[in-house]
Amino acid sequence: MARKIVSTGRGGAGKSTFVALIVRYLKPPTLLVDLDPDLSLADMLGADFRKEKKKTVSEALYDVIETRKRGAKVSTPTHELMESLLWSDCLYEDIGFDLITLGTKLTEGCYCPPDELLRRTIPKLARNYTNVVIDSPAGVEHLNRNIVSDINDLFVICDPSEKSLRHIGRIKEIMKAVGIRYNRFYLVANYEFDEGTEGYLRNSGEIYLGKIDYDANLEQYNLQGKPLLELPEDSPACLSVKRILTKGGYG
Ligand SMILES: Nc1ncnc2c1ncn2[C@@H]1O[C@H](COP(=O)(O)OP(=O)(O)O)[C@@H](O)[C@H]1O
Ligand SMILES: [Mg+2]
Repeated sequence: MARKIVSTGRGGAGKSTFVALIVRYLKPPTLLVDLDPDLSLADMLGADFRKEKKKTVSEALYDVIETRKRGAKVSTPTHELMESLLWSDCLYEDIGFDLITLGTKLTEGCYCPPDELLRRTIPKLARNYTNVVIDSPAGVEHLNRNIVSDINDLFVICDPSEKSLRHIGRIKEIMKAVGIRYNRFYLVANYEFDEGTEGYLRNSGEIYLGKIDYDANLEQYNLQGKPLLELPEDSPACLSVKRILTKGGYG
């Protein structure tokens, strides 16, 4: 069974950047799951869903619902059909990683149907991978949606603010309340921390793995939409992430 890794934190903290950077250090095959409707992870990895004619989970679900609304006769039950579509239409395959994105909901109402689909399907998909990495939307609401209930390593990407520190406590409360189990709870400082503010994380009582250094190159890549997989191995952010993973027990 794959190791399940979740990257979470407040908006703009650097969650997606962290996921895009750790891919190169994880033992393949790796499945990435982007739960953020803004699709930024695909952009950071240079994954062009349109070009490869791949759909987000929400798009695939919407298409099935629309087809059925038009009265088309389909013998397969929706959940079975969706599971097979997830493989054929939603799984973006690249060198070094596969990627599934939840996408923006296209029908009225909540994220329940696509969430439910992923909740049921991720464990089945996970059998084919060494690592499954979940990139989360901002905040703690996604934890309530309980899409992955058994996490191996949870990385909380922190920004230097009082809210961010309170956020750590909120994550733990919510996971306990909704029954999400995890093996390791790790704190990571984003590039905005300095020696002084890092002290808050060191003394937080949680396992602090270190800071991702500021990386002007990375900032430029993100601005220009260049894939972060092309960042040089010796760039500050890559070296930081490598150090952080080593400290977290990754070989
Ligand atoms: N190490 C870093 N150095 C410089 N800029 C960074 C670094 N990490 C992240 N950023 C910038 O911070 C912004 C937010 O990062 P992102 O990963 O999208 O955050 P999140 O997924 O938490 O919303 C991006 O514009 C990104 O370029
Ligand atoms: Mg993000």
